[in-house]
Amino acid sequence: MRIDIFTLFPNMFDGPFGTGIFQRAISNQLVNINIHNIRDYTHDKHHIVDDYPYGGGTGMVLKPEPIFEAVESVKSDTGSEEELPIILLTPQGRLFSQAVARELSGYSHLILICGHYEGVDERVRQHLVTDEISIGDYVLSGGELAAMVVVDAVVRLLPGVLGSEASTQDDSHTTGLLQHPQYTRPAVYRGWSVPEVLLSGNHAQIAKWRREQAIRRTHERRPELLDKVNLTLEERQLVNRLKDSM
Ligand code: ADE
Repeated sequence: MRIDIFTLFPNMFDGPFGTGIFQRAISNQLVNINIHNIRDYTHDKHHIVDDYPYGGGTGMVLKPEPIFEAVESVKSDTGSEEELPIILLTPQGRLFSQAVARELSGYSHLILICGHYEGVDERVRQHLVTDEISIGDYVLSGGELAAMVVVDAVVRLLPGVLGSEASTQDDSHTTGLLQHPQYTRPAVYRGWSVPEVLLSGNHAQIAKWRREQAIRRTHERRPELLDKVNLTLEERQLVNRLKDSM
């Protein structure tokens, strides 16, 4: 997958993409991430990227020209065969989720634009961008951290990036449930024991226990998620018992 990120603060991306799964994914050529400075696409002496809002008001608005030219340089560069998502990170976008991450992981190329200040000129939204994403109902000072969140969640889903395909299957939100509790050695730590069933070697029993724990945890912490999950009759009965005991 190729990812092009357009930002006013390219240095912000040095840390996160230089470590852990990113470093491995990049060196194994599973993903190719290019960071572009929007300021490089200005033509004036002072490299101005923002201006006062028409109609007045506080703050500055990102000008359309450098953003259009920056993104178009990459589009023409790649020939842009298939439909190419051009995503603006903004608190006004659709809410990011595991399902959106999975959707984006199916493309071979993504373009992300990090908004700033009071926002971007509306013509960028109307005539350049194909999608707008928010990572939550709060306002960040810019789209950079949001872009990192999106890229992280997408890249770890790409085949070969994590150790084994199975690693993402039990993730919280992949099944629609929160993940079951996990334990590792020692079997007893400060007198706190790992649940017996996990030491039993009985894979069917372990799978059953994990599924039930995931349902219990989801019921406790995010009950609204349970409405959207496919549960067996037996599992639905468990949920009803949990509700009754509240
Ligand atoms: N830019 C500022 N706040 C944001 C948010 N919540 N999501 C995406 N981009 C943003």
